[in-house]
Amino acid sequence: MTLDAVLSRIDADLPQATDRLLELLRIPSISTDPAFAAHCQTAADWLVADLQSLGVTAEKRETPGHPMVVGHVEGDGPHLLFYGHYDVQPVDPLELWDRDPFDPQVEDTPAGKVIRGRGSSDDKGQLMTFVEACRAWKAEHGSLPCRITFFFEGEEESGSPSLVPFMQENGEELKSDLALICDTGLFESRVPAIVTMLRGLLGEEITITAPDKDLHSGMYGGVAMNPIRVLTRVLASLHDEEGAVTVPGFYDGVPELPDDIRSQWQGLAFDHAKFLGDVGLSEPAGEQDRTPIEMIWSRPTCDVNGIWGGYTGDGFKTVLPSKASAKVSFRLVGDQDPHKIRDSFRQMVQAALPADCKVEFSGHGAGQASVTETSDPAFEAARAALSAEWGIPAAYVGCGGSIPIAGHFQDILGTTPMLVGFGKDDDQIHSPNEKYDMESFHKGIRSWARILDALT
Ligand code: BES
Ligand code: ZN
Repeated sequence: MTLDAVLSRIDADLPQATDRLLELLRIPSISTDPAFAAHCQTAADWLVADLQSLGVTAEKRETPGHPMVVGHVEGDGPHLLFYGHYDVQPVDPLELWDRDPFDPQVEDTPAGKVIRGRGSSDDKGQLMTFVEACRAWKAEHGSLPCRITFFFEGEEESGSPSLVPFMQENGEELKSDLALICDTGLFESRVPAIVTMLRGLLGEEITITAPDKDLHSGMYGGVAMNPIRVLTRVLASLHDEEGAVTVPGFYDGVPELPDDIRSQWQGLAFDHAKFLGDVGLSEPAGEQDRTPIEMIWSRPTCDVNGIWGGYTGDGFKTVLPSKASAKVSFRLVGDQDPHKIRDSFRQMVQAALPADCKVEFSGHGAGQASVTETSDPAFEAARAALSAEWGIPAAYVGCGGSIPIAGHFQDILGTTPMLVGFGKDDDQIHSPNEKYDMESFHKGIRSWARILDALT
C-alpha cells in the first residue's frame, strides 16, 4: 500500500524534519513588535524557499503589514488549501524562560521528547506538519496527490490586519474546495480532534488620564483624583457577582447550545478537575450555571489582559500618577457583533468617569465567532484518518481560542475550513517555555499524510 510507504518515509525522515523546524524556530518572527519586522520577512523567505524545494510555485506577497506566503501546485482531484501562520507571540517575561526562546532544542523530559522554543506549537511546528507530509508524499510518489494551495500568514498573533483585504483581492486564487487549518490542539492532549466552533475576539486598550502630570501623593493624595482608582473601579464593574459580563447588550446574539451539541460534548467526559489542576487551580471561575467545557467553547467572556500605571519598578515611590491603562479582550460566540460591543463598552467606560477624567480608546482587532458545517463527506473521511493514526476515535470539538481566518474562508471565499491540530494543553502557547511534543510533530505529519490519502 503506497500510504504505508509515505508513512515509513515520514518515520525515517523525522530527524531531518526536526532540523528543518528548528531552523524556522530560530527566526524571531514576532508580528506585534515592529522591531522584529525584518525577521518576519526572513521567516517568509525561508518558507518560500522550503516550498520551492518541494516543487511548489511559491512567492512572498507584500501587504501593508507582514508578508503572506502563497504557493501553488497543480494536480487532479480536489483543490485543497492549507493555512498556517509563521508569526509568533512576544517572549516576555523573558526571565521565566529556561532557555533562549529563539535557540530551540529537542529536550528529553519524563513525558517524552519535546521541541522547546517560541512558536514550536503556535504555529510553526503545526504548519510544518503539513509541509513535511507533502515532502514525504512527493518523495514517494514524485508529485503531490492533488492541486494544493499553501497560504501562510505573518500577522495572526496581532489580529490579522492585512488578511481581509488580501483575501478579497486574491479571492479567485485562494478559493478552494476545502481549507485545511493547522492551528488547534488535541482534545485533552490525547484525542484527535476537528474543531467546529471558534470564538471571536474583540480587543480594546483604554487609558484614563486624571491630573495632567504625575504628582506627589503626600501633597495631592486625597484631593486629586487618581486614575488607577477610576480604572480599577471600571474594570471591576465589568463582571457581576455571578461572573456574567455587565456591558449593556453584551449577550445579544448569544445562542443557547443546541441539544445535539450539548449531548455530544457531554459524551467527551471532559475532566475539568485535571484541566484546572494542571495550572494550579481547582474552582471554575466563570458563569456559575455553566459547565466548564461550555464556558470555554460556547460562552462569551471578558478578560483584562494587562494593566499598568504609576510606579511598578523596584522599591517604592509615593506617586499619584497622571495616567492608568489596561488591555481588555472579549471572546465572542454566536452572532455577537464585535462593533456593537465595542461601542457599548466605550459608552460604559465614558459614563463611569468622574469629573476631570479623560479616556482614550484604541481598538485591537474585532472578529466574529465561527461555526463550521460538517456535512461535507471530507469531514468523516478526515475523522477516520485521524482515528486510524491515533488509535482513538477522533472527536468534533469546540475551541476557546480565535483564528480569524476560519470565518473569513466562509464569508469571503465560500470555502469550508477544516481545523485539525495536534497541540497539547500543556504546550504553554503564548507563555514562557513553549514546547511541541515530538509525538505531536511526528503523528501530526503522519495524520496529514493519512488525511491527504483519504481526501484524494
Ligand atoms: N493557535 C491560536 C488559537 C488557539 C488557542 C488554538 C488556544 C487552540 C487553543 C492562535 O494563534 C491564537 O492565539 N489566536 C489569538 C487570536 C488573535 C487575534 C490574537 C487568540 O486566540 O488569542
Ligand atoms: Zn496560532
